[in-house]
Amino acid sequence: MGKITLFDKTFKPFIPYAEIEKAIGQVAERINKDFENSNEVPILLCTLNGAIMFTSELMKRLNFISELVTIKLSSYIGTQSSGEVSQVMGLTTDVKGRKVIVVEDIVDTGTTIVALKKFLQEQGASDIRICTMLLKPASYKGDVKLDYVAMEIPNDFIVGFGLDYDNLGRSYKDIYVLDTDSDGTPDTIINIPEKHMKYFILFGPPGAGKGTQATAMVENFHLCHLSTGDLLRKEMAAGSELGLKAKALINAGELVPDEIVEGMIEKQFDTVKGVEGFLLDGFPRTIAQAEALNAILAKKGEEVTSVVSLMIPDEMIKERIAHRAAIEGRADDANEEVIANRIRTYHDKTEPLVAFYKGAGKYNEIDGTGTIEEVRGRIADLMSKY
Ligand code: AP5
Ligand code: MG
Repeated sequence: MGKITLFDKTFKPFIPYAEIEKAIGQVAERINKDFENSNEVPILLCTLNGAIMFTSELMKRLNFISELVTIKLSSYIGTQSSGEVSQVMGLTTDVKGRKVIVVEDIVDTGTTIVALKKFLQEQGASDIRICTMLLKPASYKGDVKLDYVAMEIPNDFIVGFGLDYDNLGRSYKDIYVLDTDSDGTPDTIINIPEKHMKYFILFGPPGAGKGTQATAMVENFHLCHLSTGDLLRKEMAAGSELGLKAKALINAGELVPDEIVEGMIEKQFDTVKGVEGFLLDGFPRTIAQAEALNAILAKKGEEVTSVVSLMIPDEMIKERIAHRAAIEGRADDANEEVIANRIRTYHDKTEPLVAFYKGAGKYNEIDGTGTIEEVRGRIADLMSKY
């Protein structure tokens, strides 16, 4: 086992495959013992993508019948105030009344496993066991019991045996650790093709369903959802200087200054890692912002992937916002005059972007009317082409 390089980082050998196999054998033995007298078929719930290798090695060693189910979890870093957020998605089997053994590759702070266990409890699973190949005891802060732990490791950054660095490195059968003393001359250099991020713009008037549809799309396509409206509302709620500046403008249905949102977006591009791209919602909203976005991306050697434009008539905007006002209580939804001003602002300042992106050959229009599911299907069909 020599050193390996993935993108900008060098990793050195850490846990050889033989040791991994041995630890998996031991953990399988314990699970076999616990389930030997059970006459129910438990679900083996593999968390994608990291736990694929571990799950397959574990399954081979279980001597009872189990049903393999997969689930995809996503965790992303929000703003400082919201911290790390985990989302649970993609469970395709009904777990109600079933015993579930969750198979994880690694438990770090525990945010994801806590969220997953809560989700399975809500779905009515009768018994939930957690099995993880690796645990970082020094960083685990969860209150969920970890029933089966194959190996404990220090708080280091590792890759291999299913674990990745920005989606690379999963295929090594040994585990590698970040080489902090590296002089930059690794034993093995892996040729990595130039990797581009995706930058989708979810465009449309207020109330078109951008926020509603964004949630499903970021899960489907492994993107980070960036809504400038949500980011500004967080600043307002935190009472920051920026939030105070934005508040009066937002509550009057006016746009905040371009530099504010451009700065917020650039910061997110630079700090969010581990995603395949971004879904921009509510940005850009002026030609100046679109030009700034082009410049920010050009610095990174990137460009806008595609504009997905959700179109609904003005009357429907009012109906949808009135409906949301009753549920979410957003200050800029409460007053008809403010809503009318948001619609006016959209037509005056934001709609010119249609021609801008048509000219750049990036514009795709989608009918935003119909049920949420119908619109979701149309957007997913379009985005899957990129
Ligand atoms: P922002 O938060 O972006 O507000 P917006 O553009 O007015 O858009 P909304 O969030 O109101 O609508 P949405 O398209 O997300 O619709 P939703 O999914 O919620 O911005 C707020 C303010 O911040 C701006 O006015 C501005 O001041 C400032 N700002 C933000 N970005 C800025 C920028 N780049 N530059 C300068 N200033 C900026 O759906 C609406 C409702 O309809 C929901 O209740 C939903 O459940 C429902 N619904 C959705 N789809 C359907 C469907 N198919 N059928 C029935 N109901 C549906
Ligand atoms: Mg929104």
